[in-house]
Amino acid sequence: MNRRRFLGNSFAAAGGALLSSRSSSQAEAAVLPQLPGAVPDAEIADAKFPDGFLWGMATASYQVEGAWNEDGKGESIWDRYAHVPGHIKGGDTGDVACDHYHLYRHDIEILKRLNQKSYRFSISWPRIQPHGPGAPNQKGIDHYKRVMDAVLEAGIRPFCTLYHWDLPQWCEDRGGWPNRDLAGYFADYAGMVANELGDQIQVWAAFNMPWAFTYYGYGIGIHPPGRTKFNDFLRALHTVALAQGESFRSIKAASSKATVGSAYSMAPGYPKTGSELDYKATARYHAMNNTFFLHAALRGEYPNAFIGDPPLGLMGFQPGDDKLLRAQLDWVGFHYYTRRIVSDASLASAGNGQHYGTEIESDTGDPNGGRDPYTRFHAVMPSEGPLTHAGLEVWPRGIYDLVMQISREYDRPIIEITECGCCYMDTPYDKEGGRVPDERRTAFFRATLAELARAIAHGAKVRAFHAWSLMDNFEWTDGYSQRYGLTYVDFRDQKRTIKDSGLWYGRVAATDRLAG
Ligand code: FCB
Repeated sequence: MNRRRFLGNSFAAAGGALLSSRSSSQAEAAVLPQLPGAVPDAEIADAKFPDGFLWGMATASYQVEGAWNEDGKGESIWDRYAHVPGHIKGGDTGDVACDHYHLYRHDIEILKRLNQKSYRFSISWPRIQPHGPGAPNQKGIDHYKRVMDAVLEAGIRPFCTLYHWDLPQWCEDRGGWPNRDLAGYFADYAGMVANELGDQIQVWAAFNMPWAFTYYGYGIGIHPPGRTKFNDFLRALHTVALAQGESFRSIKAASSKATVGSAYSMAPGYPKTGSELDYKATARYHAMNNTFFLHAALRGEYPNAFIGDPPLGLMGFQPGDDKLLRAQLDWVGFHYYTRRIVSDASLASAGNGQHYGTEIESDTGDPNGGRDPYTRFHAVMPSEGPLTHAGLEVWPRGIYDLVMQISREYDRPIIEITECGCCYMDTPYDKEGGRVPDERRTAFFRATLAELARAIAHGAKVRAFHAWSLMDNFEWTDGYSQRYGLTYVDFRDQKRTIKDSGLWYGRVAATDRLAG
């Protein structure tokens, strides 16, 4: 797999859950294969989640809504990028996607039918502020009010992400995330939305995967806006961390009921060898890819992601910024998809005095971009476990290690798993009445959730789990060629078919158990 492909593929009420040692039905084991890195199958069937655990599913505006230019919506950087041929596999765009903008009632019915307690969705910023800062587009606000009415009527908790990558194009025209002004624009937008929708929504995440959209978009250019200067990435990191702190305050000021966090991308890192250098590199990887923004919020400083001190000057750090970064997040949200094996690259040179580093280095050849002299580690995805159709390794044990590590490092915060899922291309099967028998997805969730139950049993305060995704959708630069849904979508006619994994997950949500 080449680097570009690898990266594209890599984004990839606490209480005591019990995993008793009583052994159970061997029949289960015969149906679903034991996955490497998973707890023994005999124990999985006995896993029990706490009463009130919030079972949920997630989506994101650009990936499902469609209606890209309706009701006054402005252009986003994803609209602009996808409309350029060659950027997205198959020439796909999110113009229509799952047409969730019009079919949301139907989709919320599916959530209800599957006994879901939480729906994580995102608001499209360019629907709210289409052309610039200032007063909101009322039609955009009204749309989300109607969606919230339907979610609440279904007895489901709305979990709102304010930014899942669809930056208004006007923000990019003003310099994008490397421009510090965006922290203020974002905080204004967040406060405005909390003011309008705060009666309906209490759980707010500022950002989805801040490390990923800054690095992909500004460091190596495989996502919009497609810029490739490492220094722009560093500046973008700082603006987004400031925006996280500033929006925390603007949301709280607008809505007294609000609880605020973010949804980080995390993949546990394991050192490649027992050497001290690999251990240290793994710590830098963890600080850069997993906890950079969390640490900035909770501690008011950046973690040790760098060789030596953080390059604060290059990041645009100003006196007093430590106070702006700080935000006592009410809960910590993160995704789990896979893991990484990390090795040191502090001694390797890429020539010309440049160094390797930060996940996968870029090939741009631009002396200002790509090669990273600051973090100097190599992080790769192993293939000891089976690979999904997106090429991500299935490693259930990783969620246990990650949840326990975050619990240890940040004083047992309340945790929301904001996304977890896998890509398999199963389709409706005529010989089985049109069902979608996606056994590998069920096996993935079953084993991964058993590991999560084990983490809860060992003291982690995990209160929610959101499966990615409610339905197949526009998978960024892979377009419609990857399917992560628990509901199958036929993109020719928008017909939805709940997959076998979705029906299984619905039973889990009803019983708090993984059996059956
Ligand atoms: C996550 C993204 C989500 C989706 C899944 C497969 O990293 O947050 O939008 O693309 O990966």
